[in-house]
Amino acid sequence: MTSTYELLRGRLADAFDTFVPGADPVLRTSDHGDYQANGIMALAKQLGRAPRDVATELVARLDLGGLATVEIAGPGFLNLTLEPTLLSSQLRALVRDARLGVATSASPHTVVIDYSAPNVAKEMHVGHLRGTVIGDALARLYRFMGHTVIARNHVGDWGTPFGMLIEHLVDLGEDATAATLSIGDLDGFYRAARAKFDADDTFKDRSRRRVVALQAGDEETGRLWRVLVEQSVRYFSAVYEKLDITLAPSDVVGESYYNNMLEDVVRDLASAGLLVESDGARCVFAPGFTNREGEPLPLIVQKRDEGFGYAATDLAAVRDRVQQLHGDELLYVVGAPQAQHFEMVFSVARLARWLPEQVRCEHVIFGNVLGADRKMFKTRSGTTVKLVSLIDEAVERADATLVARGNDMALDERRALATQIARAAVKYADLSTERQRDSVFDLDRMVSFEGDTGPYLQYAHARLRSIFRRLPSAWDSEGVEFVLAHEAERSLAMGLLGFSDVVHGALTTLQPHRLCVYLFDLAQRLTSFYEACPVLTSQGALRDERLALCELTARTLALGLSLLGIEAPDQM
Ligand code: ARG
Repeated sequence: MTSTYELLRGRLADAFDTFVPGADPVLRTSDHGDYQANGIMALAKQLGRAPRDVATELVARLDLGGLATVEIAGPGFLNLTLEPTLLSSQLRALVRDARLGVATSASPHTVVIDYSAPNVAKEMHVGHLRGTVIGDALARLYRFMGHTVIARNHVGDWGTPFGMLIEHLVDLGEDATAATLSIGDLDGFYRAARAKFDADDTFKDRSRRRVVALQAGDEETGRLWRVLVEQSVRYFSAVYEKLDITLAPSDVVGESYYNNMLEDVVRDLASAGLLVESDGARCVFAPGFTNREGEPLPLIVQKRDEGFGYAATDLAAVRDRVQQLHGDELLYVVGAPQAQHFEMVFSVARLARWLPEQVRCEHVIFGNVLGADRKMFKTRSGTTVKLVSLIDEAVERADATLVARGNDMALDERRALATQIARAAVKYADLSTERQRDSVFDLDRMVSFEGDTGPYLQYAHARLRSIFRRLPSAWDSEGVEFVLAHEAERSLAMGLLGFSDVVHGALTTLQPHRLCVYLFDLAQRLTSFYEACPVLTSQGALRDERLALCELTARTLALGLSLLGIEAPDQM
C-alpha cells in the first residue's frame, strides 16, 4: 500500500510540476489540518511572484481526487485535511497488511555494517554498548526492508600488546587464563600483564620477542593468541546474548583477518602514485586534511618500523567489503572521536579507486555516554564501568519494580520478563537520543515505567493486549469500518498511518532515534484515546472500531520495538 503521506505528496507534486518541474511541495504533518505544504514560498521566489497568488493558482490546478480538502493560510501555506473515506480505507489496508504499510525495498542491496568491535582481552565499555545497540537496530531495519545485511564485528585482535598478553597467559597457564577470561575479567587480565611489563625487564624482553614470533607466524604463538581471541569472543557473545543482539561469532572478522592484504594495500597505493615517504613512514596525503597549524595531514599506512597500523587495516577492509562482499553500502557505526580517521580512510580509498562512486560509505557517528551527573561515565575510581554488571543491575531493578507492582507470575517467568524489560530499558535509552549527541546512562530513569522509556512503551503494548484477553469471545478486525467520530480516535489513526514514513525516514537518515520519537508519540495518542474513548464498555460497531484501533496500535508498537531490537511481552 502507498502511505497516506506519499499519496498526498504525489498529488501535490503533480501540481507543483506544472509551475517548475521537480519543485518540492515540502509536505509535513501539521497542527493546522493534518498536513501542511510549505513549498509555495520557494516556488514563488523562483517565479518572482507573490506567494498568495501562486498558491491560489496552484490550488486551482490541484487535483486531490477526493483524498483531502485544502485551504490556503497565512502568506501561502496549504493546509490539508484528509477525507474520512481515505482514512478509513487506509486503515483497513493496514489491518490486512502484516507489515503495517511498510513495503520491502524495490531495489534490495547488500549493506555491510561494521559495529560493536570491542577489543580482545579488554572489557567492553559503554561506548561499545552504544555502537552495538545502534548498529543492531540498523541491521534489523535494513533486514526488514529486504536488504542483505553483512555484519562485520571488527574486533581489535592484533598489535604489540599481544606480546605481553601471550606471555602473561604462559605464566598463568591456559586453564587459569580461560577461567579469568570466561568470568569476564578481561580488564583484570590486561592490567596484570601491563603491570608485569612495566615492572619486569625480562618479562618485557619476552613480550617483545613474542610479538616478533606472532608476526612471523610461529605456530605455538599463534595457538596461544587464538586462545585469547576465542575466550574473549566467547565472552562478547555472552554479552550479546544478554542484550539480545543479533551478532554471531561468525560475524567476528577482526583486524588480523586483513593481515595478509596489507602488503598489497601498500604496493597498490605506491603504484597509483599516492604513497609518500614522510619521516620514514609511508603515508598518503589526501587533499583537504590539515592539522591545527594548517599543514597537510598524513594517513599513515606503514610505520617507520615497517609495522602496519589501524588505518592500513581499515583500507584493506574497505577493499574487501567492496570486492569480496560486494557491498553496495558500507556503514561504520563507530564513536565520534574516530570521525577524522574514517574521513581520511574513505577519501584515500576513493583516490585509490577501491571505493566506486556508487557505493555509499558512511561513518555512522555516535556521541559519548555520560553518567547521570552529565560527566563521562566512569566508576568512582575512574575505570570504565563493566557492561555486564550494568545489565545485571538493570534486570534486578526491573524485577524489583515488577514485585512492587504486585506481579504474580511464577519466579522463572517473572525473571524472564525482568530481562526483557531491562534490555528495553538499556537499548531504548541509547536509541532515543539522537545518535550524534551524548546519551545519559541513568539507570533509575531508564527502567522507569513512566516517561520516554522502553518499559513505558512495552507496558503500553501489554496493556493493549490485556484488553483482548478480557474479551468474552473471539474477535476479528476484518471488515471493521473506521468512522473516527471522536477527535482522539482520529488522532490515534493519524499516528498509525504515519508508521511507514517513519521507518523510511529512520533508515534514510540512519537515525533509529526517529522511530523512538514516533513510538513515544503514538503511546501518548493512545493515552488520550483511553481517557476519552471507553473500549470494552462501548457497544456494537463503535466497540469494534475501537478494538480495531487498539489492535493496530498494539501491532505497531510491537513491530516498531522489534525493529529497535526490543521485545514486546504480552503481559507485564
Ligand atoms: N576496536 C575499535 C575500538 O574499540 C573500533 C573499531 C571500529 N571499526 C573499524 N573498522 N575501525 O575503538
